[in-house]
Amino acid sequence: MLAVDMETIRKQLPVWVEVSRPHAAHGKVASYIPELSKAPADALGVTILTKDGESASAGDCGMRFTLQSISKVFTLILALMDHGEDEVFSKVGMEPTGDNFNSMLKLELVRPGIPFNPLINAGAITVSSFIRGRDPKEKSERILQFFKDLTGNPGLDYDLQVYRSESETGNLNRSIAYFLKENGVLSGDVEEVLDVYFRHCAILADCSDLARMGLVLAHNGVDPMTGQTLIPRRYVQIAKTFMTTCGMYNASGEFAIQVGLPAKSGVSGGILSLVPGYCGIGVVGPALNDKGNSQAGVHLMEHMSRELDWSMF
Ligand code: DON
Repeated sequence: MLAVDMETIRKQLPVWVEVSRPHAAHGKVASYIPELSKAPADALGVTILTKDGESASAGDCGMRFTLQSISKVFTLILALMDHGEDEVFSKVGMEPTGDNFNSMLKLELVRPGIPFNPLINAGAITVSSFIRGRDPKEKSERILQFFKDLTGNPGLDYDLQVYRSESETGNLNRSIAYFLKENGVLSGDVEEVLDVYFRHCAILADCSDLARMGLVLAHNGVDPMTGQTLIPRRYVQIAKTFMTTCGMYNASGEFAIQVGLPAKSGVSGGILSLVPGYCGIGVVGPALNDKGNSQAGVHLMEHMSRELDWSMF
């Protein structure tokens, strides 16, 4: 990593955002969840937050968006904290798929028919069934509280319009969930598990919330702002590994080569990333590429990583 001070990054960041922003024109805002289609296609924002509390932001960093698949990293961590590795990984694998995030192809083709990893939809829906709580309401409250602790933002809440929009139209996720139930992978009431899943996907955040969560991962589970351990180190290690191998779905290999950092994308255009031991990064750019990752956001991550020599490899 280059020794570049935060002042220089602060100066350069708005320039880099404007270099990457035009790339949004090659992407498309997600519309399969109808409510998401309202997002501005050319928006692009970024926040970087270091362990010393220094930050740099540029572009549309204050724009709020739903976490979508970014939430999957943290529900995995919560499920691991609730049940441990053996139990969770008896129902979810550890391998990338090479397929789209919402594919159910391999569930039938590859034995024993458990989801390949916790970051594809099938895996994340299974993980949702592992969250402790008396009922879906308590499970969702525990998840939301976990995100409030991770972001240090007590005001964090759902976008109920996005939640309802996905709940009403999520037939593919419903079919995945019922298929998993039929095969004995998913336990509990399918609609209740889906409700927990749709809700955590609809938690609203901005780039600084993502950067703060990334920073906790960059610091092996300790929030450098408070000194509090929020996640056991082993589970951070697992989460960062999944982010590196599966976080950008079937573009994770290319992202590892071009950026070289653990990252997780969501269909609303968010990317959460981190430089281990140094900083958390939050990016948003709603126009997506054909793999479901932010078109301009990935470009910006590539640009920043090259300029600042961030790759871990
Ligand atoms: O289940 C879904 O399809 C969405 N709630 C989340 C998918 C997602 O974010 C994929 N990311 N690129």
